[in-house]
Amino acid sequence: MAPSLSADPADRIIVALDGMDPEQALAFASQVQGLRWVKVGLELFVQAGPHVVAQLREQGLRVFLDLKFHDIPATMAGACRRAAALGAELITVHACAGSEALKAAQAAALDGATRAGQPAPTLLAVTVLTSWEEQRLQRELAIGQGIAERVSALAQLSAAAGIAGCVCSPLEVAALRAQHPEPFALVTPGIRPKGAAVGDQARVMGPAEAIAAGASQLVIGRPITKADDPCAAFAVCCEPLKA
Ligand code: C5P
Repeated sequence: MAPSLSADPADRIIVALDGMDPEQALAFASQVQGLRWVKVGLELFVQAGPHVVAQLREQGLRVFLDLKFHDIPATMAGACRRAAALGAELITVHACAGSEALKAAQAAALDGATRAGQPAPTLLAVTVLTSWEEQRLQRELAIGQGIAERVSALAQLSAAAGIAGCVCSPLEVAALRAQHPEPFALVTPGIRPKGAAVGDQARVMGPAEAIAAGASQLVIGRPITKADDPCAAFAVCCEPLKA
């Protein structure tokens, strides 16, 4: 099941708390007015541990835990059970783990959340990391399938295994939405509001364009976290999403 979202544009924006230590992340999250969703990635989680998820939840935030699990079914299930019991509502898993692992992870996450009295989590499948290029997939992993075809096939595998959404690049969102109507979640990073620095993101889209293309939520990091005025930058991202 995709997460329940209100009509408030703030529900569409997940701010990535990258490059911050735990104290900075908590202070940042409490400072941005109207913020509802944050993303905790590997760097913050490895430093701060599960406690930071609980602390963010105590601050009233909804948490996307982006640890991209990829392991044998029992380990995936155990990790997703724990993540959901912490209150993470979006949790990433690699589609390449295969349908058995995805099914086990999905069932365990739901069970973990229910037992802990936490909201039902949504697992999001990662298909092909955007750092891969077709030629390198072929050369290093002997994968001859084109990236678009592979993204589509892995999203299909995930959906058939009961996974309720995917993380995808802005370039993939329209094609995936055509194959997976709402409420399938499509969470899209690589978003840049007008005038923001593109940085190391090669292919970007504006917030309104990405939502129009079919994204259900957007992940935005540095345009907000590195802004001189993060509150204003968050408001700028929300503005074009107002009905
Ligand atoms: O700062 P920026 O807006 O580029 O941050 C985007 C966030 O989304 C980062 O946490 C990054 O790791 C993540 N991400 C991405 N591209 C992907 C998958 C995840 O930028 N394909």
